[in-house]
Amino acid sequence: MLNIEEVATRPFNDQKPGTSGLRKKTAVFENTPNYLENFVQSLFDVIDASGKTLVLGGDGRYFNNQAIQTILKMAAANGVSQILVGRNGLLSTPAVSNIIRKYETDGGIILSASHNPGGQDGDFGIKFNTPNGGPAPEAVTNAIFEATKDIRTFKIANVPDVDLSQLTTFSIGDMSVNVIDSVADYVELMRQIFDFDAIADLLKSGFTMTYDALNAVTGPYAVEIFENQLGAPKGTVVNAVPLPDFGGLHPDPNLTYAKALVERMYAADAPDFGAASDGDGDRNMVLGKGFFVNPSDSIAILAANASLIKGYKNGLFGVARSMPTSCALDKVAEKLKLNVYETPTGWKFFGSLMDADMITLCGEESFGAGSNHVREKDGIWSILFWLNILAVKRQSVSDVVQNHWKQFGRNYYSRHDYEGVEADAAQQMMRRLTEILPSLSGKVFNAYTVSSADEFSYTDPVTKEKTEHQGIRILFKDGSRLIFRLSGTGTQGATVRIYIEKYEPDFAKQNMDSQEALKDLISIAVDLSEIQKLTHRDGPTVIT
Ligand code: G1P
Ligand code: ZN
Repeated sequence: MLNIEEVATRPFNDQKPGTSGLRKKTAVFENTPNYLENFVQSLFDVIDASGKTLVLGGDGRYFNNQAIQTILKMAAANGVSQILVGRNGLLSTPAVSNIIRKYETDGGIILSASHNPGGQDGDFGIKFNTPNGGPAPEAVTNAIFEATKDIRTFKIANVPDVDLSQLTTFSIGDMSVNVIDSVADYVELMRQIFDFDAIADLLKSGFTMTYDALNAVTGPYAVEIFENQLGAPKGTVVNAVPLPDFGGLHPDPNLTYAKALVERMYAADAPDFGAASDGDGDRNMVLGKGFFVNPSDSIAILAANASLIKGYKNGLFGVARSMPTSCALDKVAEKLKLNVYETPTGWKFFGSLMDADMITLCGEESFGAGSNHVREKDGIWSILFWLNILAVKRQSVSDVVQNHWKQFGRNYYSRHDYEGVEADAAQQMMRRLTEILPSLSGKVFNAYTVSSADEFSYTDPVTKEKTEHQGIRILFKDGSRLIFRLSGTGTQGATVRIYIEKYEPDFAKQNMDSQEALKDLISIAVDLSEIQKLTHRDGPTVIT
């Protein structure tokens, strides 16, 4: 008989999961007694965990192992019948999504704070994905939050920690625990979608690449796929071992944080292709020799070339992008006569469209792209998609992008982040902007005429659920756009994101530096929002 303890606890009232689950400073999870337990018990109560099969894994950051041991003991005490857990507790976010779907489980628990730094001083997070493989909808996360406000006890099995280093099956009481290979199912899925032989031929032809796993979860996936299966030389994957503090790196693949990769790709002897993923493996960054692929362009290029890929050769149901993502994808959809959906920021809105077979591909400006193969964005999938396109076209990354602009026009695009500003100042800025919106229509700023200005809201075409206050957008007559929104994923103060876009159909004018091309629009954004005055900042902390 399993020795189950019913432990008294008290609610914390701050456990509201955001779009990416519950995310807090690691110290909050580690040092607040029962912080994790309260959330997990609330989750188990809401999903009625008894008799269920769940997937469990995380990105290997500090507290991953401890959290997994606790969750296993609580799962056993709550009557969960089976848990599939990644070896050593490791599973990337897209891998969890795949395993949930492939084995038709009742959902899964992902331990990660995505691209946020890890370690004792970093961030930690926990997220629940539903049986479709995607992040839980708001009804579920709200129910969990309500439960955390009332919790008085949690259940945990009084058993020693278990060994997760071997691929084996054992029991905790009546619950069976299968320790599964973190990588195998994911690799099989990638093989179904992409032409591994064609990519291997490309790599044999003298084409060179580098992949930076930023000491996070994708290391083992990338070594298996790029080096072992596709034949890239050993050492192609750098920072390949997942470390609890990511070796001090900020595992966010962008121009600021993936610095070593960017320097390498802009060096004289740069390889032909460079890529990276984030902490939990759902984001991607792609570069060519001395050339950065903007993520908004990337999703448009994947859509335009989908017919070259085995997994998509029968066509696409449709495509989608988050509202702040550039309209480059719309240009492709127009030419290919595909429906294009504009959704609020966050992956769950895409999942609903995918479940209804309304879209196949989707992406966000924030280094996320994906398809209906899972219900999360997928970093390595995006990178393989690029490699497969290059294997067919045998062009450089920059040629592929420039040819794309030539055909569809270029959407100059940049995102300016003001990170960790005072929350009150950020709120005030958004409030002020909202107030002046009605007066903006028809106004001319520096030769840009406002065509409309509003706050974005969205009604899911499938569930009819309405989502409001999704950012302020100012649209100009020439197709330019300015978007303002507050980040929902930060853990300190507030982060203001300003997205700036300008469409340039003329090939002769497509080779400007994007900050230069967007200069006037950037100053309009700063003036209109008074962001620098209100937040006491001279400029953004991150420019993409
Ligand atoms: C950020 C990105 C958003 C992405 C989310 C989760 O959210 O901007 O596109 O879906 O991370 O990866 P934000 O901090 O802007 O709310
Ligand atoms: Zn992530």
